[in-house]
Amino acid sequence: MAGLYRSRVAGIGSYLPEKVLTNEDLEKMVETSNQWIVERTGIERRHIAAEDEVTSDLCLQASRRALSDAKLNPEDIDMIIVGTVTGDNQMPSTACYLQAKLGCRNIMAFDLNAACSGFLYGISIADQFIRTGMYKNILVCGAEVLHRFVNYKDRETCILFGDAAGAWIVSQASEGDRNIIESTHTHADGQLAELLTLPGGGSRMPQSQKVLDNNLQYVQMKGREIFKHAVRTMALCCKEALEQNKVQPEQVDWIIPHQANKRIIEAVADQFDFPMERMIVYLHETGNTSAASIPVAFDWAVQNGKIKRGQTILLTAFGAGLTSGSVLLRY
Ligand code: ACO
Repeated sequence: MAGLYRSRVAGIGSYLPEKVLTNEDLEKMVETSNQWIVERTGIERRHIAAEDEVTSDLCLQASRRALSDAKLNPEDIDMIIVGTVTGDNQMPSTACYLQAKLGCRNIMAFDLNAACSGFLYGISIADQFIRTGMYKNILVCGAEVLHRFVNYKDRETCILFGDAAGAWIVSQASEGDRNIIESTHTHADGQLAELLTLPGGGSRMPQSQKVLDNNLQYVQMKGREIFKHAVRTMALCCKEALEQNKVQPEQVDWIIPHQANKRIIEAVADQFDFPMERMIVYLHETGNTSAASIPVAFDWAVQNGKIKRGQTILLTAFGAGLTSGSVLLRY
């Protein structure tokens, strides 16, 4: 954990596409009901990218807001990381498209595939580059256009996912600054990889008529099993972060968990013995937006006066892989 420098959250931003898909809309598409979706997930609606919007467009909106919040210009950015599993193309990276759209210098830019943990993985990498003194300002985005990879005939998955982008500017803290990223912890358990996949289009299963006939271009999920692992891993990640930093749960102002399912969040609060009133829940508006979920919920909580500068915040996520992680910070 040692390093020459420490990093801080200098600016935040998020973007939700205008178009909204409600539970009532889904009732007309698959055999489901608003009541079932709300009771089993907490989700009421999700935002869907416009036909001509791609992931880097969502990143651009969120990044401009984060830059403005940090009072920085695109040329101040030293590196771009985009956490996404629904990039503009297989190649090149969405981060390269974003670099061009923002008008940054020819800085390092890459995508990171850790599914819903992608944003926390990105923060962890940014933190390392700041700690060594290599870079001063890093743009980390989490962004997805998931609705193009979801089968709107599969009621178990299509009710869950939405599109969004969130962005942070992670910058070198000045000496004595108490508002710093305290620690990052990241994990993966590849033994559980088959619980959540998007198989079509990779080297194992290149695009073909067979892929399309079997709907393998869409997210495939074993929901009930993921649920169990999600609760266990996020509770463990929270515990690990607090033990490492010798922080008690009472000293944490807010936990922002990955926004997948309200019942998962309630179970984490229960296992971790943390009051539900201090868990940030925004999934009623967004559904599960994978890598975007934590920065989007964070931004919403700041805009709504819940999270304030100087507070201690714990972020935790799980996602396909199964990946997981936590970030403890003073905002
Ligand atoms: N509407 C109505 N009924 C439904 C729906 C629906 N949309 N979906 C499933 N059901 C039915 C099932 O068919 C089943 O019926 P049966 O009892 O007749 O067999 C019944 O509801 C109960 O199904 P379960 O799967 O047990 O429902 P559960 O309470 O587990 O909720 C859910 C399902 C919402 C998918 C839940 O398991 C979950 O949220 N899991 C985690 C998924 C997740 O977070 N995935 C993303 C991971 S993060 C990432 O990397 C993207």
